[in-house]
Amino acid sequence: MFKPKSRPRRMRISEGIRSMVREISLSAKDFVYPIIVVPGEHVKKEIPSMPNCYQLSVENAVALAKKAYELGIPSVEIFGIPEYKDAIGSSAWDMNSPVQRAIKGIKETIPKLVIIADTCLCQYTTHGHCGKLCGEYVDNDATIELLCKVAVSQAAAGADMVAPADMMDGRIGEIRDALDKAGYINVSIMSYSVKYASAYYGPFRDAADSAPQFGDRSTYQMDPANVREAIKEVNLDIAEGADIIMVKPALSYLDIVRQVRDTIDYPVAVYNVSGEYAMIKAAAANGWIDEKRIVLETLTSMKRAGADIIITYHALDAAKWLKDLDMRTSCVNFCTFLHARLLPTY
Ligand code: PBG
Ligand code: ZN
Repeated sequence: MFKPKSRPRRMRISEGIRSMVREISLSAKDFVYPIIVVPGEHVKKEIPSMPNCYQLSVENAVALAKKAYELGIPSVEIFGIPEYKDAIGSSAWDMNSPVQRAIKGIKETIPKLVIIADTCLCQYTTHGHCGKLCGEYVDNDATIELLCKVAVSQAAAGADMVAPADMMDGRIGEIRDALDKAGYINVSIMSYSVKYASAYYGPFRDAADSAPQFGDRSTYQMDPANVREAIKEVNLDIAEGADIIMVKPALSYLDIVRQVRDTIDYPVAVYNVSGEYAMIKAAAANGWIDEKRIVLETLTSMKRAGADIIITYHALDAAKWLKDLDMRTSCVNFCTFLHARLLPTY
């Protein structure tokens, strides 16, 4: 009978052995949980295309952040819908806006939770673009001045990190300078360095009321067909002082995550965006897929591609599932151990 020379299946024979040779491990510590805050009180409004994700008023956002922290998730990213919008998005640096109040509330309640503030203007402008317009064109340099104000206001509210999401040229250096001048030398910058003009943002734009009112974002966000340009953006942001580099979306861009990981020595984050979440939730609601297994497999693929940090709406569920699995695995390992001790000839 044929005998293979090599038997890789030996390393798959039991959960105990599989756990010993596993190359990638996923943990709640890998996650950042996005939270969307809105004006008002006692608001908890589910986002139709994102089941189990909510628009929350400040006190509910603080409570949810606490839950994330208790599940072992180290960080939340705060997005917001303001009370008023105008042409330049001035509510984005209003210290009384929901985002600034939520940051302050979370910092006071859960000081050890790392607060990342999404730094962009699209939720705050009447036209829904990520900057100040000049005709129908987003004016790069004028926008950066405004973004600096947003970043400084978020730092003043207590953000540990700002995350510029706009894709304007040169904003990382200017924001770094503005933070330093205002005395926030230890507030870090997670740059949305490689952000593609993607249809996967659809559900979020409904949730955050931030869809552009005309045209699209392809004059500032990247063309999904480009790879070399991603590396160029990453190198520029590092030269300007970014602390963490982000690739967004995640799933269709894991090749980019791998290339970025192999090119730089900075932490790499991926954003597992709203459309990716919506597709899994919709299929799971229909009973077509096993949600828990699909989510954990998907998040594992992001780590395997090289991400150190995963921003994901699945964070709370995944953290719970990982905790359950961990308890079960340690039991399996213990049983394997007992087996080996008590039944050495087995
Ligand atoms: C805005 C912004 C976007 C997302 C977060 N902030 C993308 C966009 O509207 O272009 C997407 C988040 C998601 O889809 O989960 N700059
Ligand atoms: Zn934006």
